[in-house]
Amino acid sequence: MAITATHMLCALASVGANIIQQSVQDGTPVPLVAVVIAWNRPASLARLIRSLEAADYGAAAAPIEIRFALDASGNQTVDDEIDQIIRSIRWPFGVVRVRRRLVHVGLKENVLGAWTPSDEEDPAPAVFLEDDVELSRLWWHWVQACLRTYATHDTWQQQLIGVSLFTPDNLNEPFENGGSSDPNGKFVPSCEWQGLHWKGNSRKGTSAVLFGQPCSWGAVYFPWHWAAFRQFVGKLRHLPPEKLPKIPCPPDTPRCKVSANHWGRNSWKRLMIYYMTMSGLYMVYPNFPGRAGFSTNHVEPGVHLSQDPQVLYGQRARHRMKLIDLDMCRTWRIRCSINETAGADNDLPPFSLPSADSIQLYDFYCRVQPPAAEGASALREAGRALEAKLPSEMVGGAPVVDDPSNDGSEYLIIPAVST
Ligand SMILES: *[C@@H]1O[C@H](CO)[C@@H](O)[C@H](O)[C@H]1NC(C)=O
Ligand SMILES: *[C@@H]1O[C@H](CO)[C@@H](O)[C@H](O)[C@H]1NC(C)=O
Repeated sequence: MAITATHMLCALASVGANIIQQSVQDGTPVPLVAVVIAWNRPASLARLIRSLEAADYGAAAAPIEIRFALDASGNQTVDDEIDQIIRSIRWPFGVVRVRRRLVHVGLKENVLGAWTPSDEEDPAPAVFLEDDVELSRLWWHWVQACLRTYATHDTWQQQLIGVSLFTPDNLNEPFENGGSSDPNGKFVPSCEWQGLHWKGNSRKGTSAVLFGQPCSWGAVYFPWHWAAFRQFVGKLRHLPPEKLPKIPCPPDTPRCKVSANHWGRNSWKRLMIYYMTMSGLYMVYPNFPGRAGFSTNHVEPGVHLSQDPQVLYGQRARHRMKLIDLDMCRTWRIRCSINETAGADNDLPPFSLPSADSIQLYDFYCRVQPPAAEGASALREAGRALEAKLPSEMVGGAPVVDDPSNDGSEYLIIPAVST
């Protein structure tokens, strides 16, 4: 890795971690960047923006800058509709930056170039939002609560890459865990934490877990990991999907289905899986009854999905989940707010989050790991072993020769509106 690149990463890790640390110490919210990824679905984008605007940003709001990363649609009507949606946004929390690519680059490249954090610019964490996602009114509180509870915990915090807003199901995920039917014919997923929703029948369920898979349907990423990820994929991102390395089955499972090994050329998540598994990283995931979460995916025809109504219907049933609202919080008797003045009606932390020492950790294959530092080091070792198996020319030290942000895009900055 080039010296300057390494230096930048170190500086970014320290500046970025400081921002979070300082906010936690001061009891103020952590500033965020919202990266909105869109291409040619104005109606979807409008729904996402409405949910961003309608969310609750606490009693003492912190800056949130919005970045639109628009791929070229090649259709003036579509562009005009998108521009109109963006111009009508009411956003008092920070500036809105809009960048539209002049040539179509596809989802993977658009995402890779959407955010280029460095120590001097953009050291705050970013929430990535693709246009068919919709947010819960409480998403920001969830993120802030998780950052406070987990992001500054020094024994395993270096391997935490961010916070997911979405709870995945166990099918069509990067690794297919499958499941079985219980005596009553009810499907029991073999990915343990997904069968242990918090407030479910099992006492082992908690409202959050750490899980070694990335999320692309609403998730916060830390800037130092995102910058390192961009370096890590310097060479991988140019390879055709069939040349990309294969993630192996777990050692004790000779037959398994790593679905991510079949994902195509537009998948940035496949690349993120290499980065996460080889570095032993994990994200915080919400784990509430009925897989309700802080973002949902509306599964609209686009890059990854066919136009076939049957297929879309099935996919929607699996991925369109309930968004957590205050009524649900009341029913579950949890505090869904970091508002200092909210007055805790019980002693539980917001969202009843498990402590940093006890939060359960699952690896990429959904196998339980020991909590805290012990689990973190187990994942790190597994990651090193995985990386050692890969052709050396593909990973590690690939300098970023071409920066995906140097693509001749148009920039537009819309100042924050006062309310
Ligand atoms: C946080 O406090 C503000 C101001 O008192 C209030 O409007 C908002 O509803 C509170 N948010 C939550 C999630 O309780
Ligand atoms: C551009 O998009 C509009 C709106 O979706 C559509 O009606 C029109 O056919 C598209 N034009 C071209 C040339 O594809």
